Amino acid sequence: QNDMLPRTQHALKFDLVAKCATTKARAATLHLPHGPVQLPMFMPVATQASLKGLTPKQLEETSCRLCLNNTYHLGLKPGQATLDTIGGAHKLQSWPHNILTDSGGFQMVSLLKLAQVTEEGVRFLSPHDGTPMLLTPEHSISLQNSIGSDIIMQLDDVIATTSPDHARILEAMHRSVRWLDRCIAAHKKPESQNLFCIIQGGLDLELRRECTRQMVARDTPGIAIGGLSGGEAKVEYCKVVKTCTDLLPDGKPRYVMGVGYPEDILVSVALGADMFDCVWPTRTARFGNAITNVGVLNLKNASYACDFRPVDEGCKCMCCRPTSEGGLGITRAYIHHTAAKETAGAHLLSIHNVHYLLILMRQVRDAITEQRYPAFLRAYFYKLYAGEK
Ligand code: GUN
Ligand code: ZN
Repeated sequence: QNDMLPRTQHALKFDLVAKCATTKARAATLHLPHGPVQLPMFMPVATQASLKGLTPKQLEETSCRLCLNNTYHLGLKPGQATLDTIGGAHKLQSWPHNILTDSGGFQMVSLLKLAQVTEEGVRFLSPHDGTPMLLTPEHSISLQNSIGSDIIMQLDDVIATTSPDHARILEAMHRSVRWLDRCIAAHKKPESQNLFCIIQGGLDLELRRECTRQMVARDTPGIAIGGLSGGEAKVEYCKVVKTCTDLLPDGKPRYVMGVGYPEDILVSVALGADMFDCVWPTRTARFGNAITNVGVLNLKNASYACDFRPVDEGCKCMCCRPTSEGGLGITRAYIHHTAAKETAGAHLLSIHNVHYLLILMRQVRDAITEQRYPAFLRAYFYKLYAGEK
């Protein structure tokens, strides 16, 4: 790279802290407009400007400093005019920390079966009143500018990973590059909001390489890998992540979208990824599932009816911590009796599950920094698959 060339001004600073000597794992500090965050990290999803059932304060207590909002949902409600009046999503949800917004296209395509993608954008019928709407790259960026999120995502053309239609995969990849150019041109606040590109290309490694080269050339402050975690085989998933990270610059954050199982996150970190998001930890909480080091416990199971141990022994989250240590001292039996009603029990489990993943990521960072990530991985997987339940 030629230092004489003018560099694009970005609203973030990426400081590498450590690199694993044997895997591609990295630890870094990412300085964002609403404070620094440590990578690798997991970002909980607060779809409607709140994690289902959690207050912003409770989310803060899980140690979360960067959460996700969806442009699609905020654009419908409260809508752009209200967002502009309030002054953005940080104010709307009294959240003093960082926010990342997804661009909306993926949500429409995955939520609304009737969404139609053309070169202009994504056409869909409003879920409120059925009126035809069009989300273009320009409109998505304009909405994200009104939301004021610290990281904004390009509108991309997302198709099912398992699609056999090679021509469509090729078209979606090239269209995502063209849409990135339109997003860059439409972005009004590059000095305060970081626009990330999203690499597409299905499971075709040559397409992924081509897309990665084209996206990297556009010099966005961060880079996402999209179009994964849609039911593809793990080996295919790993090949795509590795193929992309092999071609990515060292000095920028790498975000794999839609990944949230602890095992997948740990392997992806070893393949050089830094950021993850998923609705799974909070969604599965609503089904009574607790994430622990020995696997997922379904607390609706009859065997927990009289189990007065904490949800996850040794966990320091607000839910599990004993009352003598300022926590709520919630037992498995309590969750068993309340989780079915999707109320207090489900909210408490959400707190635990989010906290679990955030603490796991802290352990990951410590292991990378102390040059023991491979041993950490082995111990984690051993306990998960061969440990005592
Ligand atoms: N969330 C999970 N995967 C994707 C993707 O490929 N694109 C976008 N925009 N969001 C996602
Ligand atoms: Zn807990």
